[in-house]
Amino acid sequence: MIIQATILILICVNVIATTNGTEMNCVPLIRVPRNSVFRAPVMTKLKINCTITLDGCHRNPRVSWCKLNGSECKALNYSHHIRTERKDIKKHEWMAFLIFLNISMEDTGLYRCKEGDTSVSHAIIVTVTDKYKDEVSRNQSNTHDDLKWLGPYVYICSGVGLVFIVMTVSFLYYMDTHKKDLILPPHLYLNSDLLTSVVYRV
Ligand SMILES: *[C@@H]1O[C@H](CO)[C@@H](O)[C@H](O)[C@H]1NC(C)=O
Ligand SMILES: *[C@@H]1O[C@H](CO)[C@@H](O)[C@H](O)[C@H]1NC(C)=O
Ligand SMILES: *[C@@H]1O[C@H](CO)[C@@H](O)[C@H](O)[C@H]1NC(C)=O
Ligand SMILES: *[C@@H]1O[C@H](CO)[C@@H](O)[C@H](O)[C@H]1NC(C)=O
Ligand SMILES: *[C@@H]1O[C@H](CO)[C@@H](O)[C@H](O)[C@H]1NC(C)=O
Repeated sequence: MIIQATILILICVNVIATTNGTEMNCVPLIRVPRNSVFRAPVMTKLKINCTITLDGCHRNPRVSWCKLNGSECKALNYSHHIRTERKDIKKHEWMAFLIFLNISMEDTGLYRCKEGDTSVSHAIIVTVTDKYKDEVSRNQSNTHDDLKWLGPYVYICSGVGLVFIVMTVSFLYYMDTHKKDLILPPHLYLNSDLLTSVVYRV
């Protein structure tokens, strides 16, 4: 009985020692959805984020960001135009931000966030768009669209016009060839408007 109790106490002490002392149950986790894409026009501000959880850890996250160059993820140099931020979400959970204050075309690329030395996130795609080029292409597609709506009308109009022309020509031709066959009352000869209602005898 005494031996059993001693063993139980020893186990309890052991468990407390491992959880309290070292970080054996600390599980750093970085959450970034696959194929996360952030888009921004040049010379604007862009904030990209990743979520970090440190379940069972007794410390704050140690976040760093890197940019992929081939297979190598190069540590970012935080400068006047790149900054980092961290926000508490709940216990053991944080949101880490990388902020481009005035983004340039060279910032286009793949980024990862890291926690400590071991945890690395999926790549985050940053696409910087050229504002001027985008506007030009949008304007061009706009003018294209402006003409597009005319398409059916042009079609219909030319169709109606063609039918009209064919009818007129056939009518004139018919009138010309049958003129001699028409026997009209004298007063109708000069009034072409009434020709349609003429009854003719051959
Ligand atoms: C950034 O945060 C938003 C919520 O604020 C979330 O929906 C999105 O998935 C996060 N993006 C990344 C890459 O973690
Ligand atoms: C990326 O890697 C290439 C070689 O693979 C190197 O020439 C180039 O300088 C690197 N770029 C940066 C920004 O480190
Ligand atoms: C940061 O600076 C170091 C040394 O100045 C350089 O080797 C490295 O390529 C830079 N990182 C990036 C992402 O440009
Ligand atoms: C952003 O950078 C461009 C050059 O890339 C510079 O001309 C512009 O003044 C900068 N804007 C701000 C607000 O710093
Ligand atoms: C595109 O069109 C808008 C007006 O529709 C105009 O204000 C703008 O300057 C144009 N952009 C370019 C690059 O031509």
